[in-house]
Amino acid sequence: MKLKSLLLLSALWQLALSSTLAADPAKHTFAIGPDDFLLDGQRFQIRCGEIHAPRVPAEYWRHRLQMAKAMGLNTVCAYLFWNMHEPLPGQFNWSAEADAAQFCRIAQEEGLWVILRPGPYSCAEWEMGGFPWWLLKQEGIQLRSRDARFMDAAKRYLREVGRVLGPLQITRGGPILMVQVENEYGFYAKDAEYMGDLRQGLLDAGFDVPLFACNPPQHLRDGYRQDLFPVVNFGTDPQSGFKALREILPKGPLMCGEFYPGWFDTWGAPHHTGNTERYLTDLEYMLKAGASFSIYMAHGGTTFGFGTGADRPFKPDTSSYDYDAPISEAGWATEKFFKTRELFARYLLPGETIPEPAAKNPVMSFGPVEATACAPIWANLPAAAKDTQPRNMEHYNQGYGCILYRTTLPAGPEATLESPAVHDIGQVFLDGKRLGIMDRRNNKFSVQIPRREKAGTLDLLVEAMGRVNFGQEVHDRKGVNGPVKLQSAGTASELKDWEVFALPMDSAMLKGLRYGSPKAGEPAFWRATVKIEEPRDTFLDVRNWSKGMVWVNGHNLGRYWNIGPQQTMYVPGPWLKSGDNEIVVLDLFGPQKPLLAGLAEPILNQLRPDQDFARVQRPEVTLQLDPVNAVMEGSFPAGTAMQELKLTTPAKGRYFCLETRNAQDGKAYAAVAELELLDPNAKPLSHEGWKIGYVDSEEREREDGTAENIFDGQTANYWHTQWGSASPAHPHRLIIDLGKSQTIGGFRYVPRQGGAEVGGRIKDYRIFVGDKLMTPKP
Ligand code: GLA
Repeated sequence: MKLKSLLLLSALWQLALSSTLAADPAKHTFAIGPDDFLLDGQRFQIRCGEIHAPRVPAEYWRHRLQMAKAMGLNTVCAYLFWNMHEPLPGQFNWSAEADAAQFCRIAQEEGLWVILRPGPYSCAEWEMGGFPWWLLKQEGIQLRSRDARFMDAAKRYLREVGRVLGPLQITRGGPILMVQVENEYGFYAKDAEYMGDLRQGLLDAGFDVPLFACNPPQHLRDGYRQDLFPVVNFGTDPQSGFKALREILPKGPLMCGEFYPGWFDTWGAPHHTGNTERYLTDLEYMLKAGASFSIYMAHGGTTFGFGTGADRPFKPDTSSYDYDAPISEAGWATEKFFKTRELFARYLLPGETIPEPAAKNPVMSFGPVEATACAPIWANLPAAAKDTQPRNMEHYNQGYGCILYRTTLPAGPEATLESPAVHDIGQVFLDGKRLGIMDRRNNKFSVQIPRREKAGTLDLLVEAMGRVNFGQEVHDRKGVNGPVKLQSAGTASELKDWEVFALPMDSAMLKGLRYGSPKAGEPAFWRATVKIEEPRDTFLDVRNWSKGMVWVNGHNLGRYWNIGPQQTMYVPGPWLKSGDNEIVVLDLFGPQKPLLAGLAEPILNQLRPDQDFARVQRPEVTLQLDPVNAVMEGSFPAGTAMQELKLTTPAKGRYFCLETRNAQDGKAYAAVAELELLDPNAKPLSHEGWKIGYVDSEEREREDGTAENIFDGQTANYWHTQWGSASPAHPHRLIIDLGKSQTIGGFRYVPRQGGAEVGGRIKDYRIFVGDKLMTPKP
């Protein structure tokens, strides 16, 4: 056959091939039917689980996705974190753990569909909820609003997401079934136009699969739009959750967008574990009801690098994101995994099968090894910027790490150094000697300064932990912004002429460090070399160290803090190598012993309150709560439903006190999931500046019953009075200090969630509002 006709034939063949693909890329169809989701026209019950690609080393994505499939899931749900993909304005990153397209492709290869949650806001205990810090460079920018400065940047980001992930939609032969717009926006505001703009942004970016929005039951109507399919998020009680959903979605498939098998941890609070029996019961209820769901988290993984966020008002998240999920931080199948797998095996759709779980990755232990090289921060300072007063990190174009503010302190009498709010932990040094610590957790922003015979160098070294990922507090500028004053003998003088040193703790900084011999007790980097024959997963034991970050062969493992509950850091085997491995530890207060070891098991539940340099000490106060002054008295109904109550007359005051008289179950305990205060027009008051002024009792050993849980926006955790080492009786009192006098028109009380068996739900109560409900004891 002549070459020419051969060439013609093969060209025709090529054409036929591509046109088939082109003509028929979408081998499958997905739609939201009148009753069910429809895959290729057939009823499709989504058994989904959440996995965050940046929280898993890319080398292990396939392993974790195989585990998800073996647990019986048919879909994986994944957030994108804007700050991972656009670290600087207009500079996009889709490499390594940010290669979301590759993550989706592997999911498809492993037989999993994908639900994509690109944001722009994601929450997820991730740094600033996923927002890039550089948005905060713009004075007064309003995030999560139609502020054009925000919306333009958000739409540019979504266009880029469309460019990279659009081709992976099921409509193009990919695994992506649905895409979420924003995240639980109803918790934040009610502007449906804002949601509409983002929806349009995704359409303009080329997304043509169904778009949906998620919210907790009590916020399903807030920001609701007909053209966004609603799903409801809840940790338990699917009956009530779906009942609330049916109120806005009379027809159509029911879906729980986030169903929590566990919960996340914050530094200094007990490790969270979920109630496995209730989790299985609720899952089976949803399976039987033909409802779809997504387990948040199916596999939590690890928040490496600067990825950790903070719960509001400021409860920094641990770097372990194990979440007591069915698939553990290191990818191990837990008891919960096998029970879920057994359950799902009884509810498979026609043609569905469940493969065997992937093999467990081997682990190893090593050491202890000593870190012998030390690079003190003082000896590794970069060039300084000059400024009249300290300003936020973002102002100096810095996103993460630490920032050092230095000035000269004149000779003089004993005094108090007072700073504007420090985000987040500030160490004060005079001529290199640590004088005290400023701590955002309890709004402590002053330090005693001793008498000085001569002028000295004052250093304020501020560590930025994660930016708050929830509520208005996401506008979380780091460092210090404003005049720092010296208060003595009743006069306050502002300290001027500052040098500002940016310490971004990035790979460039690490490369430039000058090491020398060990220096005890000061902020420094330490280096150790570990010889390893066969690299395997391990858990770095950091209990000899105080607080900081760790890098292994240049990989930033994230933050550690010896107050716990997490005491080990997951080290993925693929990040180690045969031979010499370099471990660099930034320790901000100085190690007890510069020793490191690799363990074969993680330690995620060991609190060490004695190590906490400024444990939240509740201030001693004198109460003035005369019953005659109560602005309201009443009884809450039993059950878990949110109660919205209007004061007969709006009341003005800096303090709001909830006093419990007794509980629904007649026992000694009180618990509250959420307490929202409303202005006279029933609008929620901003939480800015709020703190717990007084609480008579809170359980902090046996569980995280911390009082701040009442205004962190999460209904899955709660304030609970003591039940471990003591059980004080009612009346219980909790006072919110609003920081300034405000007019309160009402409040919303969300009882502790969960089944009828849980305790602490309040029955009779009194409310007090005023400026003199409490006075701090001298
Ligand atoms: C919310 C958010 C999630 C995550 C969970 C708590 O529901 O949508 O991103 O923060 O809470 O883990």
